[in-house]
Amino acid sequence: RILYVPQDTAALAMGADAVADAFRTEAARRGLSLRIVRNGSRGLLWLEPLVEIATPAGRVAYGPVAPADVPSILDAIGTDGAPDGRTAHPLYHGPTDEIPYLKNQERLTFARVGLIDPLSIPDYEARDGFAGLRKALDMPSEAIVDAIVESGLRGRGGAAFPTGIKWRTVLQTPSAQKYIVCNADEGDSGTFSDRMLMEGDPCALIEGMAIAGLAVGATRGYIYIRSEYPQAERILAGALQAARTAGWLGDDIQGSGRAFDIELRRGAGAYICGEETSLLESLEGRRGLVRAKPPLPAVRGLFGCPTVINNVISLATVPFILARGAQAYRDFGMGRSRGTLPFQLAGNIRCGGLVEKAFGLTLRELLFDFGGGSASGRPLRAVQVGGPLGAYLPESQWDTPLDYEAFLEISAMLGHGGVVAFDDTADMAALAEYAMEFCAIESCGKCTPCRIGSVRGTEVIRAIREGGDRDARAELLQELCDTMMAGSLCALGGMTPYPVLSALRHFPEDFGLSPASVP
Ligand code: NAI
Ligand code: SF4
Repeated sequence: RILYVPQDTAALAMGADAVADAFRTEAARRGLSLRIVRNGSRGLLWLEPLVEIATPAGRVAYGPVAPADVPSILDAIGTDGAPDGRTAHPLYHGPTDEIPYLKNQERLTFARVGLIDPLSIPDYEARDGFAGLRKALDMPSEAIVDAIVESGLRGRGGAAFPTGIKWRTVLQTPSAQKYIVCNADEGDSGTFSDRMLMEGDPCALIEGMAIAGLAVGATRGYIYIRSEYPQAERILAGALQAARTAGWLGDDIQGSGRAFDIELRRGAGAYICGEETSLLESLEGRRGLVRAKPPLPAVRGLFGCPTVINNVISLATVPFILARGAQAYRDFGMGRSRGTLPFQLAGNIRCGGLVEKAFGLTLRELLFDFGGGSASGRPLRAVQVGGPLGAYLPESQWDTPLDYEAFLEISAMLGHGGVVAFDDTADMAALAEYAMEFCAIESCGKCTPCRIGSVRGTEVIRAIREGGDRDARAELLQELCDTMMAGSLCALGGMTPYPVLSALRHFPEDFGLSPASVP
């Protein structure tokens, strides 16, 4: 029998290793032959460790499994869900693909995550793996770039810049050496899609980077991964080795005469190293300090050479586009937001996890149809979308479609797709203060509006919360935020006002202010 026990960080945190050990021991005791595959997570995090058992009718799920549940699950195998009406195991969820949370998703980028052994090249190839790269090897560079432009893919790190246009800039910039850099410094609070992808389907990222290399004429790639992701780093290192051994990386990919290889580099824990220019500084061995743009990295990036720098999800989506065609990707989504976004549901939510859906559904659908409302059972009050620099949205805005432009219209952003929910016990003034303080702590210090502004901003919010002359201080806070937005060199200083001002505007009572006195 084949059994799947995830080795994803979220599952490990919930005791997946002990569960795998318990299955091994109990199977040996019973003389059962059991093959345990350590897969990625299916993304139903409230059910982790989610154990799946292969049956002739497909995989069935049990979760959350503790070591003590193992004997009863082994007793139940083959009887659960049987048509003769025998009692189902209390942790049995039926066929995994039929669980509504999964069934109602549109998994394009995450199609293989949780299904395969992340280190098995045959598993990867059996599910369309390397089909995109195989095609790209026979295509001229311009045609690969055209396919990405046509697909409508936009940067999934958060800025949503058209990926194909970025690639075209690099392709058209002459240079003897060019680079592909993957930004795997996933620092946004409440986000984990990069990690899940790297732990569940690392070859998709490797394949996407190799295709990018062929598209722009780069032979070398770097993955800059945050130090807080040791498991993803281990799995990626194993996958890189496996891809090399199978001839998908190296000096002569599959006998084509084309070369591309990837080096893995570990970050050192600074949030700002997720900003592309400080990431490049860090890769070059210096302190992560933001560089002024222009020149854009696409023109002068790593070691002064033209560089494609993309987020994990952007790159991991590329193989689908090449394999199935630009139109197949473009068919999903709304307006200028084409394709899907892997949303990450976190915070005070009953069913947290990964939901890949086409753009256009509403936050309310995500929170209730998928998330099942708050974990505490209390009413939800505010939702922060897009990481620590994203706005806090009150219920009146939850029907806005999840689309880059629609969110801009309400002074919010989708960012990297992180969704963090808060119930009615949340103190929004405290959260606004935290947002400013986060900026003060993580600021690289290069420009004044952010370096000084965030410290003064924290003091002003604290003073408002303590009381006294609140109206004048709220006005001062607004002015300070205007200065930060207009004068900061990068998104950290420039976007910290989003959570602060949204909290002030939508929840003035938490600051001791009346709606009329909010600027
Ligand atoms: P940006 O808008 O300055 O640039 C976006 C990308 O497009 C960059 O790679 C830039 O070099 C490139 N670009 C712009 N014009 C170009 C052109 N003409 N040709 C080629 N390339 C061009 O945004 P930035 O500062 O890179 O990112 C800010 C975003 O990062 C925020 O909106 C936020 O959502 C996101 N973010 C994500 C985090 C995460 O953990 N994923 C953490 C913090 C922020
Ligand atoms: Fe550095 Fe902040 Fe200025 Fe960005 S906005 S360059 S983090 S000081």
